[in-house]
Amino acid sequence: MAQPALIPPHWETPAAAPTPSDELIAGLSAGQARISPKYFYDALGSKLFEAICDLPEYYPTRTEAEIFGAHQEAIAAAVGTGCTLIDLGAGNCAKAASLFGALQPRQYVPVDISAEFLHQSVQGLQRRFPAIPMQPLAMDFSATLVLPQQVDEQRRLFFYPGSSLGNFDPQQALAFLRRLRAALPADDGGLLIGLDLVKQTHVLEAAYDDTLGVTAAFNLNALNHVNRLIDADFNARDWRHVAFYNARSQRIEMHLEARRDLIVRWPGARRTFHQGERIHTEYSHKFSEQDILGLLEQAGFGGCRMWFDARRWFAVCHARAR
Ligand code: AVI
Repeated sequence: MAQPALIPPHWETPAAAPTPSDELIAGLSAGQARISPKYFYDALGSKLFEAICDLPEYYPTRTEAEIFGAHQEAIAAAVGTGCTLIDLGAGNCAKAASLFGALQPRQYVPVDISAEFLHQSVQGLQRRFPAIPMQPLAMDFSATLVLPQQVDEQRRLFFYPGSSLGNFDPQQALAFLRRLRAALPADDGGLLIGLDLVKQTHVLEAAYDDTLGVTAAFNLNALNHVNRLIDADFNARDWRHVAFYNARSQRIEMHLEARRDLIVRWPGARRTFHQGERIHTEYSHKFSEQDILGLLEQAGFGGCRMWFDARRWFAVCHARAR
């Protein structure tokens, strides 16, 4: 049988977005240095994240999959079949693919910042599901969301699993949900989102500081990625992975901490970091049911239905455009 032709990822670079190099240099030059978590995801970082998802301590992926498995019929009944399935942060596309049978999408639109990884993932998937039209989009959707005309407008379902919304701060999360809502016609389409719930600190901290050091490698790899992007001279050996739960702000915080006094250089500038000084790399906010309902309501979604695992560690939620 002839293989379907694979459409290469369409690159979207919104004009208003800062370039990666401007954004990184601004972050590294700030009083509290920061690297946005999107810079975790070069080709190696995407593979390390896949490995994290298999770790015994990292419960979110497994728990969410358990919810999708146990409640597939109810989820399909809420969503309906024949949607334009827009998979935000698709990665290896495995989560969305597990729903293809139940949802039978009219079009599958995987979106990811890591173009190479996305291309490889969709190649295999298109062979497995030749009847589903696929339109991969390589883009950073965190600041703006411009969907090209190749994406069907009818019955759009934004799929945002894995609690990735938690990587935004609360105001950015609301603004992001509002942008999704604005990309849906009135009363048509919706959102299927997975969110990690507040739980015991030791469970949360183990998930972000695993025994094998995979999360540490994932965090440190951001420095290698930054070196390539702005020609900096970070040495990952000089840095230590730090992760802890900040209960007041309901979030895991990840940082990179300097092991000694050191200087990092990039073209035209340098910065001294003292021993113990940190670069902030990620927040991973955790939610209560009320937080979720409030956020969705404020963003213009309604008719929210939620499904949980037996321990109530994670929630999957479907909401409609109001
Ligand atoms: C992608 N995101 C939802 C993950 C999380 O749990 O916040 C990223 C991650 N960082 C460390 N481990 C996993």
